[in-house]
Amino acid sequence: MTYAAFRSIGAYIPSKVMTNADFEKIIDTTDEWITKRTGIKERRISEKDEASSDLGARAAEQAIERAGISKEEIDLIICATVTPDYLCMPSTACLIASKLGLPNLMAFDISAACTGFVYALSIAKAFIESGMKKNVLIIGAETYTSILDYTDRGTCFIFGDGAGAAIISATDKKEEAIVDVNCSSDGNYDDLIKTPGGGSKNPCSQQVLDEKMACIRMKGNETFKLAVKTLTADVKVMLEKHNLSNEDIQHFIPHQANYRIIKAVGDALGLGDDKTVVTVDKYGNTSAASIPMAMNYAYEQGRIKAGDTVLFDAFGAGLTWGSALFPFSPKK
Ligand code: UT7
Repeated sequence: MTYAAFRSIGAYIPSKVMTNADFEKIIDTTDEWITKRTGIKERRISEKDEASSDLGARAAEQAIERAGISKEEIDLIICATVTPDYLCMPSTACLIASKLGLPNLMAFDISAACTGFVYALSIAKAFIESGMKKNVLIIGAETYTSILDYTDRGTCFIFGDGAGAAIISATDKKEEAIVDVNCSSDGNYDDLIKTPGGGSKNPCSQQVLDEKMACIRMKGNETFKLAVKTLTADVKVMLEKHNLSNEDIQHFIPHQANYRIIKAVGDALGLGDDKTVVTVDKYGNTSAASIPMAMNYAYEQGRIKAGDTVLFDAFGAGLTWGSALFPFSPKK
């Protein structure tokens, strides 16, 4: 039997910082309000000439190096992004492959918003377990600043830019195997978070430009309530399915949207501050990149060791949601 092992994590954190004080200058807000309502203190902003593929390629290089494989051993690249370099084509995964110097392999994007990295992990696992691929590079890369309306004071201060990546490889050792990845969606909630213009429903036009319809629109408060409920329920199902309790989890890595959501979910699940990874204060919400950036942060702090059990928990536009349970299994 072939299993899929989570071998390495990497990230790229843009160096430019945008603080809450910077937002005080452009929208009617305060550092105090943003901190109290979200826990966010600052977020990273990509350079003008940096697109999602640039961020993703940098994160990928680090993940490949840490996996101890040569880049030529990669046989599939999956990039999760809702801020691709180009609206329709080519895919950001193809551009990342080119930047890595890999011209001849399968590469594609997936669109599952903030749940994208967990969806990518699920696809990588399936490709490996079926025997079709051996080393899959999965990436979450976002330049949300490219779809923000800086006059929308209810949304623009939450998001930031960044990328995270991981190598998922075939193994015959069951103890290294990703235990489960469970993903789901409900398109009935499409109106909660969306970019209403620029696609086939409302193609690019003067109206789309004038009304900034290609920028993200979010019904924050409704989304907040569903996020807490769904993220909590999702983990309960995952733990019950595998006869595990919160005691069995070493690192809980939820999507980083809002500290109040993270805290409410962690409290409901009995996963306290010692187990929960929080980076929303530093990076804001980086959508598909948020979970791998958070895992990379904990890894670089020395918190995540070989064999530790990690639990991902994601939620985002679609709506989409998903969780993943696995031992961190770097190559020995
Ligand atoms: O990543 C995908 C999933 N996304 C999420 O999970 C995001 C979930 N939502 C949230 O994190 C929160 O809903 C927000 C942080 C976006 C907003 O916080 P909230 O506590 O839900 O605020 P609200 O929208 O209910 O607004 C409360 C008040 C309003 O004023 P009134 O009507 O009570 O007088 C807003 O006008 O806060 C006001 N407000 C602000 N005040 C200062 C909204 N934005 C701001 C702001 N600064 N930036």
